[in-house]
Amino acid sequence: MRKILFLTDLHMTDAGQTIIGLDPAERLARVLDHALAHHGDAAHVLILGDLAHHGRPAEYERLAAVMARCPLPITATLGNHDNRANARAALPWLARDDAGFAQASFGWGDTRVIVLDTLDEDGIAPHHGGYLCGTRMNWLRQQLHETLEPNLLVALHHPPLVTGFDGMDAIHLSNAPELVSILSRQGRPAHLICGHVHRTVSGRTGVLSYTLLKSPCHQMPMKLGPGSSGLSVDEPGAYGIVLLHDSGPIVHTEDVFDAPSSVAEDPKSA
Ligand SMILES: [Fe+2]
Repeated sequence: MRKILFLTDLHMTDAGQTIIGLDPAERLARVLDHALAHHGDAAHVLILGDLAHHGRPAEYERLAAVMARCPLPITATLGNHDNRANARAALPWLARDDAGFAQASFGWGDTRVIVLDTLDEDGIAPHHGGYLCGTRMNWLRQQLHETLEPNLLVALHHPPLVTGFDGMDAIHLSNAPELVSILSRQGRPAHLICGHVHRTVSGRTGVLSYTLLKSPCHQMPMKLGPGSSGLSVDEPGAYGIVLLHDSGPIVHTEDVFDAPSSVAEDPKSA
């Protein structure tokens, strides 16, 4: 089975700046080192946006420096905190379709992996919300038309679904029904993998299953219902490990703690 590592919501800052006291560069380096030590056999690293916290050139340059330690191929898309032009200038591994959006499509074994760019720089969605314009939707339709693989994994920043975190649900993918409709009618099982919420969430919307992944840096506190989308908590950074099985994707998540966890075998356990 091909193994793919997933990162999302890196929120890189300028050197010396922190988010709730956390240095995104230090956190990302720790998570990436853990992922490479334990899953160095992965074929690819996919990054699901919010690459930088303010979208500044220096933030992307700092991110490029941290990711330079990664020997695996990298492909990234963008989130609501990003700036497309600044990311493009600094990150050679930013995905790119023919129209310049950070989108890509991979045929890996029995799975087609499609990466979508939900960054809205035209102010169509609510502030920090996501949007897929007609150009991007048509690109998706073309990829689906050409897909031969029996399984589909769609990777994007903004979830086209609600999670129970009201503040985040207000800024999800603003044209979610259109995307859900396209993916629900394309004729093969599909799983969505997203970022944005900074929390591990899994579920199903209609016929589509999904997983949302945590950030390597700061997480959403586990407070469902009303609450600001800006709430953050210092919990362990995390990443995703996806196995592309011929029956469909298997999604694992790993939290990375300050000290290594001790592993021991209990002879009475199965
Ligand atoms: Fe984020």
